Amino acid sequence: MKLPGIVTPLIAFVAYAIAQATPNYTSPLDVDIYNPSQLFNVSGPWSLMSRAGNTLYISGIRGFYPSNTTLAPVGRERVLQAFLNMKMLAELGGSDLTSCLRLQVYVTDMYRWRPLVNQVQEELWKDVAPSYPPRTILEVQRLNDDDIVEVEGTFYLGD
Ligand SMILES: *[C@@H]1O[C@H](CO)[C@@H](O)[C@H](O)[C@H]1NC(C)=O
Ligand SMILES: *[C@@H]1O[C@H](CO)[C@@H](O)[C@H](O)[C@H]1NC(C)=O
Ligand SMILES: *[C@@H]1O[C@H](CO)[C@@H](O)[C@H](O)[C@H]1NC(C)=O
Repeated sequence: MKLPGIVTPLIAFVAYAIAQATPNYTSPLDVDIYNPSQLFNVSGPWSLMSRAGNTLYISGIRGFYPSNTTLAPVGRERVLQAFLNMKMLAELGGSDLTSCLRLQVYVTDMYRWRPLVNQVQEELWKDVAPSYPPRTILEVQRLNDDDIVEVEGTFYLGD
């Protein structure tokens, strides 16, 4: 059954509202800190994301499967999973890939992993937006657990 035009945005809105995480802490100056249970518990003295005003800041995220916190296979799957985890957090925080303000990507081998980052971004953005967010990509010597990629995103939440 095809839903009338007005119903679809309504359903989308409801799903959107339900998906939002509640902050684990709100500071006296109204900064929210989030560690939503849909992802995983952090491994140290940091949190998965924060919100100040209409901006959502997501930590450097790696390619774990949230269900069992094991890393996805090295290569495209690892890169994709890192981006999917960031996307999930953005959505739990009330934004999405179309309102990404900025990406910072860290890779341990520019020649091997940058093309995969590009490929994954093309796959994820092609259906949702005609343009990509600004991005910085850096080769670094080492990431935690000798991982290959980590992605950090900043997102807009609207008014
Ligand atoms: C953060 O809050 C969520 C519920 O919103 C909870 O499931 C999770 O365990 C909390 N995390 C921490 C580190 O307190
Ligand atoms: C995650 O942290 C919360 C709050 O500290 C705790 O209740 C929960 O058991 C932890 N979950 C796992 C899988 O360790
Ligand atoms: C972890 O979960 C992923 C995706 O659900 C699955 O493909 C993988 O085999 C699991 N790994 C382990 C060690 O359970």
